[in-house]
Amino acid sequence: FSSEKYGVKRKSFGVLQPRDIDYFKSILGEDRVVTDESDVLPFNIDWIKNCRGQSKVVLKPKTTEEVSKILSYCNGKRLAVCPQGGNTGLVGGSVPVFDEIVLNFNLMNKIISLDEISGALVCESGCVLENLDDYVRERNLIMPLDLGAKGSCHIGGNVSTNAGGLRLLRYGNLHGSVLGLEAVKADGTVLDCLRTLKKDNTGYHLKHLFIGSEGTLGVVTKVAIHCPALPKAVSLGFFGVENFENILNLYKRAKTSLGEILSAFEMADNGSVSSTVKNLKLSNPISDYPFYVLVETHGSDETHDSEKLSRFLSEGMESGVIVDGTVTSEPAKMKTIWNIRESIAGAGLVEGYSFKYDVSIPLRNYYDLVELLRDRLKDHQAKVYGYGHVGDGNIHINVIVPEYTKNMYSMLEPYIFEEVAKLKGSISAEHGVGFRKPQFIHYSKDESALQLMKDLKKSMDPNGILNPYKVLPD
Ligand code: FAD
Ligand code: MLT
Ligand code: ZN
Repeated sequence: FSSEKYGVKRKSFGVLQPRDIDYFKSILGEDRVVTDESDVLPFNIDWIKNCRGQSKVVLKPKTTEEVSKILSYCNGKRLAVCPQGGNTGLVGGSVPVFDEIVLNFNLMNKIISLDEISGALVCESGCVLENLDDYVRERNLIMPLDLGAKGSCHIGGNVSTNAGGLRLLRYGNLHGSVLGLEAVKADGTVLDCLRTLKKDNTGYHLKHLFIGSEGTLGVVTKVAIHCPALPKAVSLGFFGVENFENILNLYKRAKTSLGEILSAFEMADNGSVSSTVKNLKLSNPISDYPFYVLVETHGSDETHDSEKLSRFLSEGMESGVIVDGTVTSEPAKMKTIWNIRESIAGAGLVEGYSFKYDVSIPLRNYYDLVELLRDRLKDHQAKVYGYGHVGDGNIHINVIVPEYTKNMYSMLEPYIFEEVAKLKGSISAEHGVGFRKPQFIHYSKDESALQLMKDLKKSMDPNGILNPYKVLPD
């Protein structure tokens, strides 16, 4: 259990009683109150299998009113609740630590409206990101975010984690794209901030409290989000590069040469790509290189855009910054290349236990931590892979070991966070703090900021029932 592994003690919440189950059944009916141990199990385990809780019940509301009734009841009885979307979170935030009630949004999956002129989409929080993207694409729009977990993650989970993803560089983060939302507070109060306006300065922008607060301040039930226009032309380049310095060089060139059409600039080192290709039996369209760069364009003129990207490749090769590469606008080929990049997250699980880090570091030092870690772990059986969103200064580091050991854990933490703090980076660039990092949050937040976070929590959830043990340190 993660509580034993990470040494956390249960707080004095109420303990679920048969009468509580009866109450939930009276609101939701028998089917939407899951208590069978084997049915509950998948909701207790996170995607990366680092954390496992001991919940006895999963509740599956279909409406905001049901959510409100559940929370009001739990608040009254001091029963702790763990909100859960698609359960693809990577920091243990989406699963209970002890016996918290799982509040799952799978059945709140209706699209409410789409304004095809403004691009404002309104939907329930349990809509799967890929389903939303398919829906808006048929209407010449796209979702403003895309990530490897799109087939399972929910828009409510994305909002609650302020998910970044593969095109943040172009379309910005969710604090910009989310137009409004509906949320339910811990005491059951429904907060209606579900506006679709781009501009609304009537006082505090309360929606931001729920974007990235990982289910600790309230539960998101509906989301209004701005969808950009579907690009008429998409091209993708996959390049082999000799050293990290050349990736930075290439990024600088991409911003000037590709300018307004640049939509993604991602990197992965040799270990990330070769292990993914090997473990998942994929194929790499180019040969073996120390580093790989993936550059995508979203524009409106296919000939112009693909010529621009091809020129970018040939100029890069002439100057020696790119060793080899391929450029394509064919959807199937683009999918194959994206699939390699998007599969890195899970490919390590085939080899063993994965310690995952997700940090922001100034670009100059972006890859330093990977090298430091390789040196630190050289006498251990550990593989260190680095990959990520160069355009956002966000690197992911996976340390793959045969199995979890306390010794390896203490070799990695807090060492990594200390190094990130020295570089004035963030210990969580996009995955959040969740259960895995509250005790390290001070490396990225000063005492006064942390106090304000605690004050907000106290004011919005005085009994602390929403996602306890997550985000905030004790
Ligand atoms: P969950 O995992 O279910 O929950 C995540 C957190 O949000 C938990 O704290 C949970 O309590 C809370 N939560 C969920 N729903 C609600 C709600 N309705 N109201 C209140 N709180 C709620 N993240 C990135 O930022 N960028 C990436 O590129 C990226 N790629 C990924 C690729 C893969 C293969 C995987 C497995 C994960 C990736 N992630 C990425 C991490 C993850 O944050 C996202 O997948 C996603 O945003 C989580 O959504 P979810 O619905 O699965 O939420
Ligand atoms: C990614 O960029 O692939 C995701 O954030 C998931 C990961 O860190 O592996
Ligand atoms: Zn990422």
